[in-house]
Amino acid sequence: MTTTLIRGRLLSFHRAPMAIEDSAAYTYESDGALLVADGRIKTSGTYATVKAEAADDIVEIDHRPHLIVPGFIDTHLHFPQMQVMASYAANLLEWLNTYTFPEECRFVETAHAERIASRFFDEMVRHGTTTAAAYCTVHKASADAFFAEALRRDMRMIAGKVMMDRNAPQGLLDTPQMGYDETRAVIRDWHGKGRNHVAITPRFAITSTPEQMDVAKSLVHEFPDLHVQTHLSENRDEIAFTCELYPEATDYTDVYARYGLLGPKSLFGHCIHLSDREADVMCETGSVAVFCPTSNLFLGSGLFPLRALNRREKPVRTSVASDIGGGTSYSMLKTLDEAYKILQLQGERLNPFDSFFMMTRGNAEALSLVDRIGTLEAGTDADFIVLNMAATPAMALRAEVVNSLADELFLLQTMGDDRAIVETYVAGKPAKAALAAA
Ligand code: GUN
Ligand code: ZN
Repeated sequence: MTTTLIRGRLLSFHRAPMAIEDSAAYTYESDGALLVADGRIKTSGTYATVKAEAADDIVEIDHRPHLIVPGFIDTHLHFPQMQVMASYAANLLEWLNTYTFPEECRFVETAHAERIASRFFDEMVRHGTTTAAAYCTVHKASADAFFAEALRRDMRMIAGKVMMDRNAPQGLLDTPQMGYDETRAVIRDWHGKGRNHVAITPRFAITSTPEQMDVAKSLVHEFPDLHVQTHLSENRDEIAFTCELYPEATDYTDVYARYGLLGPKSLFGHCIHLSDREADVMCETGSVAVFCPTSNLFLGSGLFPLRALNRREKPVRTSVASDIGGGTSYSMLKTLDEAYKILQLQGERLNPFDSFFMMTRGNAEALSLVDRIGTLEAGTDADFIVLNMAATPAMALRAEVVNSLADELFLLQTMGDDRAIVETYVAGKPAKAALAAA
């Protein structure tokens, strides 16, 4: 077992920062180090203390003057939509029907699913994202390709075979029974293998019949520890169509509530237009509303009311995500840059500590995985990244006048992308360097 000492400046959060000056929310080590062995962080602290604990024969990697933070976590994306990104559509339903559904039909071919899965993981590593909650397609082979690649790269991933049995092309439909059988088969084949987590994934109420929603309910009942992921309240036409399809439901959220899909492991993409009643139910069930800034702007879906959801008497748990390929960037830095602008348009603030909390520990908490990822704490998985605030000439020029950690984080978020990610460590191994060498 090799032990590696990784030196650099360290930043890791203990809780959500309450204000920009709330330095008790995080630990910052200006000369810090991580001792890594067996895919885990063994020790984390100042270089002097970590070095003193380490044996003489350790390998030492010096990343100074760069900043080391936990690997970014993306709580909602679609790996089969890599070739859908940048498709010209007026709104969500046109975008789905014109580009997304036809593209996803291609994943009936195993070789295509395997090729895109491999490219997907390359992009995750390149952009510093070490965990994602991903939708596959309706085809079981797409989930097999995804999880096989995650296992090969030893990455902690959440994903699900999509269930959808109406309102899409024939090549993209299963049946309630197939949705049940194939989801069970994916759980049997992949859940808990390596660092894989399977999520129960009915795409959204529009593409599932009540019979299939019943199947989703049964799966949640049989596998209560699994994540559930779906879409909720993204677009006004989508909401109206859903209410037509489920006339007995009080509102869109009630559709999912009736099928037992709300709960602390449930991730609801978008949630832009929730009523007070719906937000109350989200709070009461501990469900997570997933903010997808670049996608919401690109598809013109609306401005996610992050602060309104946080500030309610019954606050809603939230996370943040790229929503590839409705989203327009793999980069969580770019995603938070757009989140900042969405809050600006609502007269709200998103300080850089908040942003870095959200991309790391905040998203880990939303996934109920903070015991494993999202911090630099000893005992957790050694998934972390190295950031360079002077990665491009323009960034380097701006960096000349940076004189605080807050300034540095804000520069990284506002001007950074994959070029700012010097290295991505996955289970203690430098995965970005491995990409370049391949
Ligand atoms: N709603 C249902 N499917 C999708 C999808 O693939 N992307 C987005 N943004 N919304 C959806
Ligand atoms: Zn989505």
